[in-house]
Amino acid sequence: MRILAVETSCDETAIALIEAEGGLKNPRFKILKNLVASQIKIHKPYGGVVPSLAKREHLKNLPILWKQIAENKSLVKGINLIIVTVGPGLEPCLWTGINFAKELYPQFKIGNQKLKLTGVSHLDGHLYSVFLNPTLNSQKLFPAVALIISGGHTVLLLVKNIKHYKKLGETRDDAVGECFDKVGRLLNLSYPAGPEIEKLAKKGNPQAVNFPRPMIYQKNYDFSFSGLKTAVLYFLRDNIKNSKKKSDITASFQVAAFDVLINKTIKAAKEFKAKSIVISGGVAANKTIRKEFRKAIRKEKLNLKFVAPGSGFCTDNAAMIGLAGYIKYLQNKNRRLIAQGNMTI
Ligand code: KG4
Ligand code: ZN
Repeated sequence: MRILAVETSCDETAIALIEAEGGLKNPRFKILKNLVASQIKIHKPYGGVVPSLAKREHLKNLPILWKQIAENKSLVKGINLIIVTVGPGLEPCLWTGINFAKELYPQFKIGNQKLKLTGVSHLDGHLYSVFLNPTLNSQKLFPAVALIISGGHTVLLLVKNIKHYKKLGETRDDAVGECFDKVGRLLNLSYPAGPEIEKLAKKGNPQAVNFPRPMIYQKNYDFSFSGLKTAVLYFLRDNIKNSKKKSDITASFQVAAFDVLINKTIKAAKEFKAKSIVISGGVAANKTIRKEFRKAIRKEKLNLKFVAPGSGFCTDNAAMIGLAGYIKYLQNKNRRLIAQGNMTI
């Protein structure tokens, strides 16, 4: 199947064209085009995403990206599925993608009566994004424990097989990526702060400040990150004269956040006898968390695979949306074309 996918849930405008085959037993994907127009520069001065500006940029960028794909006539010829993100995210932004896809649909419908236009959850996009790796053997992954860590979400799932998953826990307040961005603001780093915190932390001492590890010893699989952000705030307020380096503060903050994520994920993997741990979402781009996960798996002598998306596929993109759309389409479980800002997984 040739699939066109549109993603506009937050501050990246993205369109992708992918090819999918193999069905649910052995899904395989080939990326033909994967375009992302980042709005980071627009939102940077505000320290976060401004929804009205994001919507304006999506409206401007969608036709520009589409032109780059449509000019190759042989590429767009055989499209038989159009998938668009319908939530969760910023509703005005989601609508720009939905309406754009609806406008495109009639052009491809002519002579292709089976063409389908349908919606998918952004979180399913992140969850399944690891399948974009062509060498991954999907048969050996399940049951898996999957951790989605992004700017809007922190969710832990038990994935029984490619079709079925169950939520084990999620954040009760801030998402971990949001916490990185807020801590970045306290330290005068630019938005989004995740990559900059990762870079600074590499030069710092993670033991310099003992920040709290919220909920780490609680028996459930929920998370909480707003207290960790406040702990950084109080530390900075009370230690103005104590000139701890930014690198030490970021390293100590990062290790506190990752300790909780890794600890709870490993606990779930043991409890449910998982064959793999899968991480995805913007924060999964962080090389330190990948290293620490591998270290923890070795230390616990767990016989399981650790899987994360390839570079460029952790942060928002449309290839993952097309892929998740295909997996849902095969089960007849696509979402209606209505923006749902608070859609849950
Ligand atoms: O998945 P994503 O692109 O968008 C959402 O769905 O939210 O994730 C964006 C988030 C931002 O909070 C950003 O700071 C964080 O991912 N992020 C990182 C890194 N790269 C992006 N956090 C930590 N380390 C990174 N290298
Ligand atoms: Zn995302």
